[in-house]
Amino acid sequence: MGAATVRLWDPVVRLFHWSLAGAFLANYFFTEEGESWHRWFGYYAVAWLAIRLLWGFVGTPAARWADFWPTPARLGAHLRALIGGQPYHRLGHSPLGALVMILMMALMLGLGVTGFLMEEVDYFWGADLPLEIHEFCANALMALVGLHIAAALFESYRLRENLPLSMVTGKRRKLSEH
Ligand code: HEM
Ligand code: HEM
Repeated sequence: MGAATVRLWDPVVRLFHWSLAGAFLANYFFTEEGESWHRWFGYYAVAWLAIRLLWGFVGTPAARWADFWPTPARLGAHLRALIGGQPYHRLGHSPLGALVMILMMALMLGLGVTGFLMEEVDYFWGADLPLEIHEFCANALMALVGLHIAAALFESYRLRENLPLSMVTGKRRKLSEH
C-alpha cells in the first residue's frame, strides 16, 4: 500500500529552513569572517527570522507558535516518553525539537546583532566583547545544529520515515499509517 501523505510544512517554513541552514553553514565554514558575503548571508538569515516570527502567528497550522510552543507540560510529556523508550509522534514539531529550534533562532539573532555592532557601530569597533559573544553564538549554534541533525536522523530511524525529506517536499506520512 502506498503511504498516504499530508501537506505539513508550507513553502515559507521550508524556504526559511534551508535559507537559515545554508547561510549558517556558509558563514561558519566558507565566507571570510566579517567580509561582505559574510555580512550579507548573516543579514539574509536575520531577515528570514523576522518573517518566520510573524509567520508563526498568521501561517499554516503546523507553522504556528501556538501549535508547538514547548510549555513545561508538553516538554515533560515528551521527556517521559523519551526516557521510557516510548514513541512520541505528532504531525508537527515535537516539544524538545521546538525548544532547540527556538534556541537556534535566538543564537542566530545574536550573531546578527553582534555582527552588526562589530561592523556598523563605530563605538564597538575593535572592542573584544561583541566578537567574543559572536564567537560564542556561532559555536553554540553549531553544537545545537549537530544535536538537531542527530535528532532528525534518530527520529527518522525510529519512525521509519524520512523527516529531512519532509522539510524539502513539505509532506509527511499520515498519522494513521504508523
Ligand atoms: C549566519 C550568521 C553568522 C555566522 C554563523 C557567523 C560566524 C562567524 C564566525 C565563526 C566568526 C569567527 C569568530 C572568531 O574570530 O573566532 C565570525 C567573525 C566575524 N563576523 Fe560573523 N557570523 C554571522 C553573521 C555575521 C554578521 C551579520 C556580521 C556583520 C554584519 C558578521 C561580522 C563578523 C565580523 C566583523 C567578524 C570578525 C572578523 C575579525 O575581526 O576576526 N557576522 N563570524
Ligand atoms: C545547518 C543548520 C540548520 C539550522 C539552523 C536548522 C534549523 C531548523 C529550524 C529553525 C527548524 C524549525 C523550522 C520551522 O518550523 O520553521 C528546523 C526543522 C527541521 N530541520 Fe533543521 N536546521 C538546520 C539543518 C538541518 C539539516 C541538515 C537537516 C537534515 C538532516 C534538518 C532537518 C530538519 C527537520 C527534519 C526539521 C523538522 C523537524 C520536525 O519534524 O519537527 N535541519 N530546523
